[in-house]
Amino acid sequence: MFAALAAAGDIRGRVLDLGCGTGEHALAAASLGCDAVGIDQSAQAIEAAERKARDRGLPVRFRRHDALRLSELGETFDTVLDCGLFHVIAPDARAAYAAGVATALRPGGRYYMLGFSDQQPGGWGPHRLARTDIESAFTSDWHIDSIEPARLETIPAPDGLAAWLTTATRR
Ligand SMILES: C[S@@+](CC[C@H](N)C(=O)[O-])C[C@H]1O[C@@H](n2cnc3c(N)ncnc32)[C@H](O)[C@@H]1O
Repeated sequence: MFAALAAAGDIRGRVLDLGCGTGEHALAAASLGCDAVGIDQSAQAIEAAERKARDRGLPVRFRRHDALRLSELGETFDTVLDCGLFHVIAPDARAAYAAGVATALRPGGRYYMLGFSDQQPGGWGPHRLARTDIESAFTSDWHIDSIEPARLETIPAPDGLAAWLTTATRR
């Protein structure tokens, strides 16, 4: 996800990485010169991300924070990244999550989300998203620019799993 967006010049300005895990996307954004923040609910993940930032000499701010409480962050961003978070949010919390993401993006700012797709066979793992799951969560605050088939690379599936890459603009 990140490499293609970066090559297209889409990672810009103040960047927020939601559910950042150990921080690779936020770190990559900082290495492009962006002012990057990563949040995750896992203290362990945040500690690991902070260690990486120190080791690489990159000025990323990592915070332990619940992505369902983004209005409490008190900051707005130009670009928001979500690689593998939306698809773990409970279906009945998706609309509230999308409304929270809107509070963290300036008008005209972009949200990029890579999430597991209903095109992936099987029933294990995170929620499989239908296009309509995405469309019904990102409504009035949003213009959905595209929902495209993509691959989600994981260690057990290096060829990737079926995913959707969603691009949405904050109205
Ligand atoms: C599949 S991992 C993706 C990690 C990273 N974005 C990546 O691409 O490698 C999902 C991450 O979302 C975090 N997460 C799940 N629910 C969250 C929430 N409500 N608030 C913040 N982080 C959350 C998990 O702790 C985990 O690190």
